[in-house]
Amino acid sequence: MSKDRLQAIRGMNDVLPPESAVWSHLEQSARKVLHAAGFREARTPIVEVTALFARGVGETTDVVEKEMYTFADRDGTSLSLRPEGTASCVRAYVEHAVHKAEPITRWYYAGPMYRHERPQKGRYRQFHQIGLEAFGSDDPMLDAEVVALLDAIVRQAGIERYELRLSSVGCNEADCRPAYRARLIALLEARKGELCEDCQRRVERNPLRVFDCKQPGCIQVAKTLPRPLEGICARCLQHFDGVRRYLDAATIGYLVDSSIVRGLDYYTRTAFEIHGTGPELGSQNALGGGGRYDGLVEALGGPAVTGVGFAVGVERLVMALGPGAAERLAPRADLFIVATADVPGARERAFSLAVTLRGQGLTVELDPRGGSFKSQMKRAGNVGARFVAILGAEELAAGNAALKNLETGTQEQVALDAIAAKLQSP
Ligand code: HAM
Repeated sequence: MSKDRLQAIRGMNDVLPPESAVWSHLEQSARKVLHAAGFREARTPIVEVTALFARGVGETTDVVEKEMYTFADRDGTSLSLRPEGTASCVRAYVEHAVHKAEPITRWYYAGPMYRHERPQKGRYRQFHQIGLEAFGSDDPMLDAEVVALLDAIVRQAGIERYELRLSSVGCNEADCRPAYRARLIALLEARKGELCEDCQRRVERNPLRVFDCKQPGCIQVAKTLPRPLEGICARCLQHFDGVRRYLDAATIGYLVDSSIVRGLDYYTRTAFEIHGTGPELGSQNALGGGGRYDGLVEALGGPAVTGVGFAVGVERLVMALGPGAAERLAPRADLFIVATADVPGARERAFSLAVTLRGQGLTVELDPRGGSFKSQMKRAGNVGARFVAILGAEELAAGNAALKNLETGTQEQVALDAIAAKLQSP
């Protein structure tokens, strides 16, 4: 970065109009879906102690090992910008002993997350998630509820081309993931030479990561291995069948993808992802993902309370809505007031009328530069106003405005105090 030209940090983007309208739309639409299911918003700090993510997300994950923005506070405490929202929610849940106040907790959050990844289309260093966490039950019905909400958020946003993928990664009982893990380590050790450096290093510590690796050698090896879903115990399989039964009952479409591993270490049992299938998304087509994390609350010092949740990436949803969305969703003014300086008092009247009508809930614009009648009419068209109120000399004298419907072209004289009712009538 040159000294005299200040720019945003690589991988961290400005969201400006008209695109910001798509963001507002997505957030509002998601909040509506979440409120309808009894979820309430939790706001946690963007910065937490590094130990929270190391213990919560997992020391051997890419996120913690390579991608966190970590720095020393003035007293030397290691802090990190949050790379995700689950660990923070669990920390807050434990810190405030929320389990004592309510048996089931349904929280959602929306905000920026930070991962120092290599930026590319759909992958940024500051990105935004809308996520939810549900605590207090390990019943498959809650997993299904959460999966159904992920589906609803994406669908209600207006995204049609997507695929919901569901699996189970098992539990920590000896005959489940630990046994599968041991089998996997043995198989991987035998073919270690074919794996990338990262996967070689992680064979012992985190063998499942090989299913997530994009290196050609690792993909070849992974194809020959028993998949995570094939290694789960009978109890986890029964739980998984339960989740499927609820989803089937609600006719929510999904594919079983037995190789889902997820990139974060806290998952147990249900794991799912939602992928965009349209051409708008490049290789970064995961719109969201999540799963169950039954040991996490305890691992972070809390009671034996189970949890399940997910997060969607707002940038990815914006991309999936396609390039026309910004124009489609741009807010339109109800009214544009035209008043020229050559009519004495017209600009003051226009200003006070705008203040009054805005107070009555209408979207009203005017041009502070003044300018000619023609240029103001043009501006009204450019901002997409539905109506124009013209305050000419005759209209002002009569306490009226000439109200023009820009969609139909019709015009009529309307008393100034009757404009709001006129515009608000269907
Ligand atoms: P995650 O799969 O790491 O899960 O992230 C969720 C979503 O965030 C991804 O599917 C993607 O849309 C978006 N995302 C992740 N990294 C980036 C990036 N660098 N640039 C743009 N978008 C990105 C979690 O974060 C879990 N905390 C979800 C969860 C909640 N699991 C249980 N509860």
